[in-house]
Amino acid sequence: MSAAAATLAFGLAGTSQAAAPTLREAADATGRFIGTAVNDGLLNNSTYRNIAASEFDSVTAENAMKWEAVEPQRGQYNWAGGDRLVQFAQQNDQLVYGHTLVWHSQMPQWLQNGSFSNSELRTIMTDHVTTQVGRYRGDVQRWDVVNEAFNEDGSLRQSKFYQQLGESYIADAFRAARAADPNAKLFINDYNTEVRNAKSDGLFRLVQRLKSQGVPIDGVGFQNHLIVGNVNGSAIQQNLQRFADLGLEVVITELDIRMRTPSDSSKLQQQARDYRAVADACLAVSACSGITVWGISDRDSWVPDTFPGEGDACPWDGNYQPKPAYHALLTAFTDAAGDPGGPGEDPEDPEDPGEPGTGSCTAVFTVANRWATGSVVNVTVRTTQALNGWRAEFDLPSGVTVANGWNGGFSQSGARVTVTNAAYNGTVAAGGTFSFGFQTNGGAAQDGTAVSLGGQRCAAG
Ligand code: XIL
Repeated sequence: MSAAAATLAFGLAGTSQAAAPTLREAADATGRFIGTAVNDGLLNNSTYRNIAASEFDSVTAENAMKWEAVEPQRGQYNWAGGDRLVQFAQQNDQLVYGHTLVWHSQMPQWLQNGSFSNSELRTIMTDHVTTQVGRYRGDVQRWDVVNEAFNEDGSLRQSKFYQQLGESYIADAFRAARAADPNAKLFINDYNTEVRNAKSDGLFRLVQRLKSQGVPIDGVGFQNHLIVGNVNGSAIQQNLQRFADLGLEVVITELDIRMRTPSDSSKLQQQARDYRAVADACLAVSACSGITVWGISDRDSWVPDTFPGEGDACPWDGNYQPKPAYHALLTAFTDAAGDPGGPGEDPEDPEDPGEPGTGSCTAVFTVANRWATGSVVNVTVRTTQALNGWRAEFDLPSGVTVANGWNGGFSQSGARVTVTNAAYNGTVAAGGTFSFGFQTNGGAAQDGTAVSLGGQRCAAG
């Protein structure tokens, strides 16, 4: 395709405004699942329920399948919350990720405070695993059999199970789970194991031992409770890969990326890059089967209760509006599925200006917030060439105007908005980015609006 034809194709694509895919559609196109933790108490909230149903194809019980919820008295089971989740998943054609069977935390009082002989404790544990996995046999595709077994230094945590039973409690839990549902995939899950460090090395060695002993383990879950600005995508990818190389499936099981609150636009943009880095790390590892986020909106997240002064860690904000992090996840999947520039693009054509890395720019145009009469928009442009001063242009829907803007000088003529660099952000290195933002009046801007830089159309990126 010639450059002129490509530009024309882009022009047509830009006016047709195809509906953006949902996260689950985009993830599906890459062969991965995208899940969320579901708070049982919020399933009555229609906004929450609709997002959980339409955007995700996997669900994890945030609390309803933990030991304290399931077996509050010894031998007396309460399946209400777990059953609601399974029913929700079946109604919405979703996978269920079971969380969690053996864990030092959220144990029922009778177990936490009771004294049992070693053999009695072993039986209590295997009975619990057998009963719960058996209950959901065929309904739950993956289980976190053992959760958070490690200390930060890579030694095994001194949980009640480890103290009394030693390392063998882990193998016994996996064997009981396999016997109760031979088709469920069995995982060990932990946090602060995302990159290579003493803790993930300890986990790695344990998994090697389990495999060499023939213990039925299928995968490793990496929680990914991360901090904005502190995410190293390539280190995550390398660590996922070394576990995958043991012949295991790997999953991002509890992704959230927190910040000190309140948020601002630059923290939200950094958070979006961090979400993207985690998603890209998974997508680069063929054994990484999916990503689960730990909560839909900032309103529902566990983070503020657990990390005082921090929050805003989820892909949707407290009003259930998608944040830049949402769009970053979505774009990670759509790019990985081989559609980086939208319809009309020929990704094989090196002259196609829409292909990231071969054209001169890519742009992410994100509506961070919208309401009936306005919106807040963030735009980030990446340039392959060094810039000394820049001019970016885009069109707003009819009747929508820029009310005020930041990180640039704004002018508007009809639909067309022109933004030039501010004094402090005109110099951009090759491969670097610049960002600006603005608020609209008269209606909302459209996510993914095409942006041009110096007259050349940027790819959606
Ligand atoms: C958290 C839940 O989100 C909270 O609602 C609950 O109060 C405590 O547990 N690692 C895990 C999850 O494996 O089960 C935890 O979930 C978060 C950390």
